[in-house]
Amino acid sequence: MKNHLSFKIISQEIPKIFRRTKCDGGKKNEKVAPLSEIHRFVVDCLSCLNVAKEKSTVFADSLVASDYKGVYSHGLNRLEAYIKDIREKACDANADPTILTECASIAAVCGNNGLGAVIGTFCMDIAIKKARETGIGMVVTNGSNHFGTNMFYTEKAVRQGLIGMAFTNTSPVMVPAGAKQVCLGTNPISIAAPAECGDSLVVDMATTAVSVGKIEMHRRKKQKIPPTWALDEHGKPTTDPEVAMKNRRLMPLGGDVSYKGTAFALMTECLSSIIADAAYGPNVRLWGIKSTEPANLGHGFIAIDPDKFLPGFKKRLSDLLNFIRHMEPADPKHPLLIPGDAERANMKRTDQLGGIIYTPSHLKMLEKLTKQFNVKPIQFK
Ligand SMILES: NC(=O)c1ccc[n+]([C@@H]2O[C@H](COP(=O)([O-])OP(=O)(O)OC[C@H]3O[C@@H](n4cnc5c(N)ncnc54)[C@H](O)[C@@H]3O)[C@@H](O)[C@H]2O)c1
Repeated sequence: MKNHLSFKIISQEIPKIFRRTKCDGGKKNEKVAPLSEIHRFVVDCLSCLNVAKEKSTVFADSLVASDYKGVYSHGLNRLEAYIKDIREKACDANADPTILTECASIAAVCGNNGLGAVIGTFCMDIAIKKARETGIGMVVTNGSNHFGTNMFYTEKAVRQGLIGMAFTNTSPVMVPAGAKQVCLGTNPISIAAPAECGDSLVVDMATTAVSVGKIEMHRRKKQKIPPTWALDEHGKPTTDPEVAMKNRRLMPLGGDVSYKGTAFALMTECLSSIIADAAYGPNVRLWGIKSTEPANLGHGFIAIDPDKFLPGFKKRLSDLLNFIRHMEPADPKHPLLIPGDAERANMKRTDQLGGIIYTPSHLKMLEKLTKQFNVKPIQFK
């Protein structure tokens, strides 16, 4: 678990009154699982599907990192969907990515329908190496699958003192502004940059109002969704997560200026699927529905060495981030955050608890997988 164990918690950079975390914990029927146990469990499940350990380790790193940060939508929540893909051979979990073309600062890769996290890690590692050598590295890939959260890759660059960017297209679930039908994916973007003393800016967001995973989490918890997230079968806003998941028609980011969300999603296609010659827009198969078709997703990864431009990048970024954090909030109960703070606070909370909090719906799913694969159950705290 080298990746997430090297995350650094920058608690002193978060305003002292900041108490909001993505999960509050301590609720009835919730359990706390140490990171190492979840990681072991995921690797054990994948080994029952004959996935090589070096691949399942990277995959588990990505899932655990997501739950650790409180991004529950992209952690264990997705394990069953990935297992289904591997079982149904929609994904070849043991495939290695191959480099198609390469020069000093760019490369194009074919993921060969392998695990998204393995392909993404392969590409970002090359982009980082090229950024070290030339100041900038960009690597794009086709033939990939769902790769988890974008920040899993951009934070790799940050840990090396570099700016990281990651783009991916996804199955079409976004109804572009002004349309009735879906055409684009949730197409998330992450840009992360290093500041001083281990602090960083970590922007990571879907270009729809929310990710599909967030709606799944509301469905798991039987909670209504805001009317600005998804549409029903008649194209009207819905607050029912069941209806939203059935119809899979998400609204673009931006509320009454949702043409900007549509624009971001198109930019993402440009820097992932279109540049990498992957499936794009409405041509991507729907995940979990026609899942035996390969997804052929495209991703783009960029690493930039800011020190190769002009000195003082980290200092200036720290100055700006801390200025914003210490601005007087409009509502004193809600201090200002910068992107990445909520996830850092969640990691700190998880460390204090000695593990990640899982809700009863997660626990039920874990129990089901334990029986299905006959693996050692997770030892909760
Ligand atoms: N691989 C895929 O197909 C896929 C698709 C969609 C989303 N995702 C992932 O899902 C995750 C969640 O996406 P999302 O759009 O729901 O993210 P989100 O809305 O939870 O957060 C978006 C960004 O806003 C920041 N943020 C949150 N609260 C803030 C506040 N109060 N002030 C300032 N900044 C704040 C977060 O740190 C984050 O950088 C991301 O990690 C994304 O990569 C992946």
